[in-house]
Amino acid sequence: MDNSFDFLISPNILKPKRFSPKLRIAILASGEGSNFQELIYLSKSNKLDIDIKILISNRPEAGCILKAKKSNICFKIIKNSDYEKKESFENEIINTIKKTDVELIVMAGWMKIMSSKFVNEFKNKIINIHPSLLPSFKGNNAINEAMSCCSKITGCSVHFVEPEVDSGRLIMQAALSITNEDNLETLSKKIHFLEHKILPLSISQAGFMLRNDLKDND
Ligand code: GAR
Repeated sequence: MDNSFDFLISPNILKPKRFSPKLRIAILASGEGSNFQELIYLSKSNKLDIDIKILISNRPEAGCILKAKKSNICFKIIKNSDYEKKESFENEIINTIKKTDVELIVMAGWMKIMSSKFVNEFKNKIINIHPSLLPSFKGNNAINEAMSCCSKITGCSVHFVEPEVDSGRLIMQAALSITNEDNLETLSKKIHFLEHKILPLSISQAGFMLRNDLKDND
């Protein structure tokens, strides 16, 4: 894509930390999976020391499933509509993750709101990417809402997941201008471009904090 636009990433971290052994992660995704694909690429090219143990998706038709198949990554479809209660749906995800023995859970386009029971089960071990400068524009329509409000600046954020939706300690953010020429498609592409930069770096930051039992970013 045309990436000749100005942006700001904070904190200004340029390289991921190295992990040996690699950081074991699970990905939760509901959509196309472009963030997931970027993580696969970085992992396979040894640019990010992660071992993607499993992809869990709630949508059998989601693009992320195809990407997992193509790259031989273990995946599991857990459809909410197959369960009468949200609790049973979440329990299945919890059990799957526990069996997989991962250190960090990455929500990369996961479009289900999870209960506090789920979040507390993996306290400080879940991170989420969101297409806005949080705390602005929470929820599932963030890019559209930023445009509709005539915001001049928007971006994307990665944060630790807390029971309250799209809240929790921020790890990294990227900001860009919304120009008069932008429409939903162009802005979404720019935000995705930035997401692919900050999600890998945030995974490395979160992994470093987890492995070293740190509470802050340094
Ligand atoms: C990303 O833009 C991510 O920020 C967003 O879904 C998209 C998934 O794209 N997540 C949310 O809106 C969560 N509230 P991808 O499937 O191409 O990675």
